[in-house]
Amino acid sequence: MMNEIDKARRRFLITTTSVVGSAGVVAAGYVFVRFMSPSDKTKVQGGPIVVDFSKLQPGQLIITEWRSKPVWILRRTKEMLARLKTESVRKLLRDPDSKVETQQPDYAVNQFRSINSEIFVVIALCTHLGCIPKYISEPGASQLGSSWPGGFFCPCHGSKFDLAGRVFKGVPAPTNLVVPPYYYVDKTIVKIGVDKG
Ligand code: FES
Repeated sequence: MMNEIDKARRRFLITTTSVVGSAGVVAAGYVFVRFMSPSDKTKVQGGPIVVDFSKLQPGQLIITEWRSKPVWILRRTKEMLARLKTESVRKLLRDPDSKVETQQPDYAVNQFRSINSEIFVVIALCTHLGCIPKYISEPGASQLGSSWPGGFFCPCHGSKFDLAGRVFKGVPAPTNLVVPPYYYVDKTIVKIGVDKG
């Protein structure tokens, strides 16, 4: 079990060091882009990072890093947003209304768990034992069954999260994925790791 988790973490380290300055499809549904990297000093201090996501296309995901943790920024499509509101998705979820207060700031307590519904910012660590889930956006993806609405699947022990990082019922992960503090510096620039003001 720990071996699998170590492997998942190693994959993150390899990814974040090998994709700097590049963009492209690395795995199904993923686009890794480092638009603006935190300085080494910021990394050491664990300070906030600034990310420009202006080149992110609908359905694409950026992976970046804050406090040595992977952070995703996903630009959700209209279809994805519509699915998040459906009763068929809500009934799959343990905490559809984000009632567990520790998992997001107040401004992300809504059905999309974000400030701007289109842009989803979340820490990419499974809330079970910290593996990095896979982004599987396609509804009904064959390996996850016909009820799969698109979301994140943790390969370590099978936890599932929807496209707002809301945990499914009946999986090992106890809570929704963690939304970090963040705010918009500009329309397509976010500062992650700190609340506005
Ligand atoms: S770490 Fe166990 S299901 Fe994700």
